[in-house]
Amino acid sequence: MAFEAFACLRILLFFVSVASFYFVFVLRLKPWCSCEICQSFVSSTWSLEFSNLCDWYSHLLRRSESGTIRVHVLDNIITANPENVEYMLNTRFDNYPKGKPFSAILGDLLGKGIFNVDGHLWKFQRKMASLELSNLSVKSYAFEIVVSEIRSRLIPLLSSVAGKENGVLDLQDVFRRFSFDSICKFSFGLDPGCLKLSLPVSEFAVAFDLASKLSAGRALTVSPLIWKIKRFFNLGSEKKLREAIKLVNVLAEELIKHKRNTDVSSHEDLLSRFMATIDDDKFLRDIVISFVLAGRDTIASALTTFFWLLSNHSDVILAIREESDRVMGSKNRDLASFEQLREMHYLQAAVHESMRLFPPVQFDSKFCQEDDILPDGTFVAKGTRVTYHPYAMGRMERIWGPNCLEFKPERWLQDGVFKQVNPFNYPVFQAGPRVCLGKEMGLVELKTVALSLIRQFDIQLASPNQTLQFTPGLTATVKKWFACGGTRKESIVLAVVQSKTSNRMQI
Ligand code: HEM
Ligand SMILES: *[C@@H]1O[C@H](CO)[C@@H](O)[C@H](O)[C@H]1NC(C)=O
Ligand SMILES: *[C@@H]1O[C@H](CO)[C@@H](O)[C@H](O)[C@H]1NC(C)=O
Ligand SMILES: *[C@@H]1O[C@H](CO)[C@@H](O)[C@H](O)[C@H]1NC(C)=O
Repeated sequence: MAFEAFACLRILLFFVSVASFYFVFVLRLKPWCSCEICQSFVSSTWSLEFSNLCDWYSHLLRRSESGTIRVHVLDNIITANPENVEYMLNTRFDNYPKGKPFSAILGDLLGKGIFNVDGHLWKFQRKMASLELSNLSVKSYAFEIVVSEIRSRLIPLLSSVAGKENGVLDLQDVFRRFSFDSICKFSFGLDPGCLKLSLPVSEFAVAFDLASKLSAGRALTVSPLIWKIKRFFNLGSEKKLREAIKLVNVLAEELIKHKRNTDVSSHEDLLSRFMATIDDDKFLRDIVISFVLAGRDTIASALTTFFWLLSNHSDVILAIREESDRVMGSKNRDLASFEQLREMHYLQAAVHESMRLFPPVQFDSKFCQEDDILPDGTFVAKGTRVTYHPYAMGRMERIWGPNCLEFKPERWLQDGVFKQVNPFNYPVFQAGPRVCLGKEMGLVELKTVALSLIRQFDIQLASPNQTLQFTPGLTATVKKWFACGGTRKESIVLAVVQSKTSNRMQI
């Protein structure tokens, strides 16, 4: 009885706090803004015409002369203008940190990890991590992990359904399992085994998934005060988030304790390497958790959309097979080596082209520290959220020309040789001092996985002719469709049918 009364009081208090804080929030921002963009945003009428928020933003940014728009009700400036992007990510890097609002959202999960901090804390980890990631033996360790995960798990799993009637797999789920196993082995030297043939449920993966999903969900509340109050009273999603993070922490602590008691000097994983210089176990946990978050969903997202594009571009598949046959020999059933991959310029171009149209991180925000003016003349008041938008940038005619919406790997090749573009035109890995630390490693992983599947399987969409829809979150995740009216419960759009190419089976 007393307990129930207490619970009621808690809930009442919660609503009173939300109501009063919401009032303050309403006064600070301008939800009554009557401009066309804000009206469409608040009433969600944009969704009548566009399947994704990023498609609507792309439309607005293409229409804007400066390539920059404002969403007043969110106090948010969004830009697809490369000069602005270079300015915020490089020239005035110090004036555009991640900022408190962002680090609060992910703070409970990521703590003081590299992904979530600014200033000295960031600089220290950045230096330490980039030193390790550039070490040759770390690079080959990462490559070995990927190769072994493909050989012993990915290929057997696809082979088990290939050629069967109804040989259907949810590739996005497969790629998420793949990248989770890989990044955990790389970061902690721990194998969660998510991609084993039985597709087991990993306690750690589930807790980590839930924690990152619920953390990202905080960004969707109208005001941060809402989730902060829910957290204070330990209610609803915040209660679940707290439990998920607790589980992640228990597992991470066990692992670190175990490693403290063993000789790790010969271990190649990041955690073991960082242990040599860092004594604070909580800080160690934060550092490696950031890597898991950064290196997992990005890879799965890039692979999913790449195969979605390939399913409608058999010419690109042929060109990739031809190039790899030339470099590796057409009868070679082994995976490409590091050196062979480097010779495949078309594959490199195709992967870049795919992420131009479908960047795994569709947009990324910073918070302006002092009043400023962007190169295109946009005034930025202190505290404003400034977002650069790689998804829209990939669709700007003024950057990529009139065929910007077409999937054309050739645009990256000059006389058959891959040529980099200005990173501020293509900030898929961000750019400037805070450019993605896993860029090189990630590209090798993407190419190795994609090539191994392209050489051994024919992959088609189980249900073609659908446009991609994304669920909101930190990285682009494809929304799953369910068969309408049918009894089949599995997602169908990214479920993919495979059968081995006949001439490749003879060998
Ligand atoms: C296709 C694959 C990937 C893409 C598109 C990608 C993209 C990005 C982007 C856009 C950022 C900036 C995020 C921000 O500051 O808000 C970033 C940061 C980062 N990425 Fe990646 N990433 C990929 C793979 C990886 C992998 C495999 C790793 C792990 C080894 C990794 C590790 C990191 C880290 C540690 C940061 C934070 C760097 C810093 O704050 O200084 N990424 N990545
Ligand atoms: C790279 O790592 C190896 C193995 O851990 C170590 O022996 C070597 O000193 C490192 N190289 C550099 C340049 O730090
Ligand atoms: C497939 O590609 C063709 C052009 O190559 C395009 O017209 C068509 O809309 C694409 N279909 C899908 C489902 O994307
Ligand atoms: C997909 O679209 C193409 C061309 O628009 C059409 O020929 C084909 O029958 C469609 N397939 C399905 C499964 O609807």
